[in-house]
Amino acid sequence: MKILGIETSCDETAAAVVENGVKILSNVVVSQIDIFAEYGGVIPEIAARSHLEVILPVIDKALSDAKCSWGDIDAIAVTHAPGLLGSLLIGTLTARTLAILHNKPLYAVHHLKSHVYANWLNIDDDIHTCSRVAFDRPVVTSDQRLPSPCQTSDSLEASVHHCPPFPILALVVSGGHTQILYMPAHNQFEIVGTTQDDAVGECFDKVAKILGLPYPGGPAIAKAAIKGNASKCKLPHPKVKGLDFSFSGLKTAVLRAIQKETKVLISYPSHKLKELLTPRQVADFAASFQKTAVDILREKMELALKQYPNVQALVVAGGVSANALLREEMKKAFLKELENWQREDKHLGSMATKMEDKVQTKSLPVFFPAIQFSGDNGAMVGAACYFEIQSGVKPTNPYTLNIYPRISVEN
Ligand code: KG4
Ligand code: ZN
Repeated sequence: MKILGIETSCDETAAAVVENGVKILSNVVVSQIDIFAEYGGVIPEIAARSHLEVILPVIDKALSDAKCSWGDIDAIAVTHAPGLLGSLLIGTLTARTLAILHNKPLYAVHHLKSHVYANWLNIDDDIHTCSRVAFDRPVVTSDQRLPSPCQTSDSLEASVHHCPPFPILALVVSGGHTQILYMPAHNQFEIVGTTQDDAVGECFDKVAKILGLPYPGGPAIAKAAIKGNASKCKLPHPKVKGLDFSFSGLKTAVLRAIQKETKVLISYPSHKLKELLTPRQVADFAASFQKTAVDILREKMELALKQYPNVQALVVAGGVSANALLREEMKKAFLKELENWQREDKHLGSMATKMEDKVQTKSLPVFFPAIQFSGDNGAMVGAACYFEIQSGVKPTNPYTLNIYPRISVEN
């Protein structure tokens, strides 16, 4: 089954053709990052206008890269929630029109579901992207490839066999969301933890702005942090009960630490602080902040696992899941059982094969999407839609489909 996935919830105009929820036949992403780098953040009006300019060429390219005509497409999937109102409107109106025009079933997909299902995508095949020449915009995709957790298959059962086993705990970390989702089966999501204020990606973006680093802040902080000392600045962990998060206090803590370091009053304009910082100080603050944010996420996942001891896999998703330190720390933490076993077994050195067996049987698998599918893309929408269809979800009405800028993944 070939699905055309369309994504325009924020500042990426994206379309892809995905077969049976896992095989990527094409993937086209036109980013607006170059536009918003100038402003230091997304301006919703401009984002919507930019989507409008490129959405049809992006879809055309997704179809031609996949060597598909409209006759080959079985369904259209589009992000209808949550996101920026104007951006969602461009994607959904385009999808509705195309569904009516080409007589295709139309499916409305929640953005957070799509991020989670990026973990089911098989990335062994060539991934096509559009060029700067075609749209006068850079295409944001990375060449880094990670081993895929999935293999292409024709049936849901076969896919499940190679993909994260249920029940799953998913950590969704993006510019707009920070949530822990319990997923007992395909297309079943229960929010078990959520942020009470800022999302972690938003916090990365705001701290980057204070430090004078470019938008988007996440990759810029990660890059600056490489040369920094993460223990230089001790930052507090917010005291939030249960599995909920809070990140606005962390951003303020970084601000106060910078004010203290540069010996200015708290009334000093925060946008001028960057002028007082040396590159070394910027690197140290970036590293200290990144380490604290990652520790908070890891600690909450450890707590979540205690509350849901039956889970068979952890899945990390969303733009922040591209963060190298988060990937490293999560893998380290959830392979703990292996370390315990290593300590117990005196003959480990000569028993490498046995150790591999133990890795598979005793540790909890942690899944991340391939780096280029951590951020927004159309392939994850196609994947989520396929598994929704397999779970019995029916097409939506293309004449009435609405958008929901703030609706929860549980609805
Ligand atoms: O999922 P996404 O592309 O869009 C939303 O749905 O929000 O996530 C964007 C967020 C931004 O806040 C960006 O700064 C963050 O993901 N991000 C990162 C990294 N790459 C992107 N945060 C930390 N480290 C990264 N390497
Ligand atoms: Zn997203």
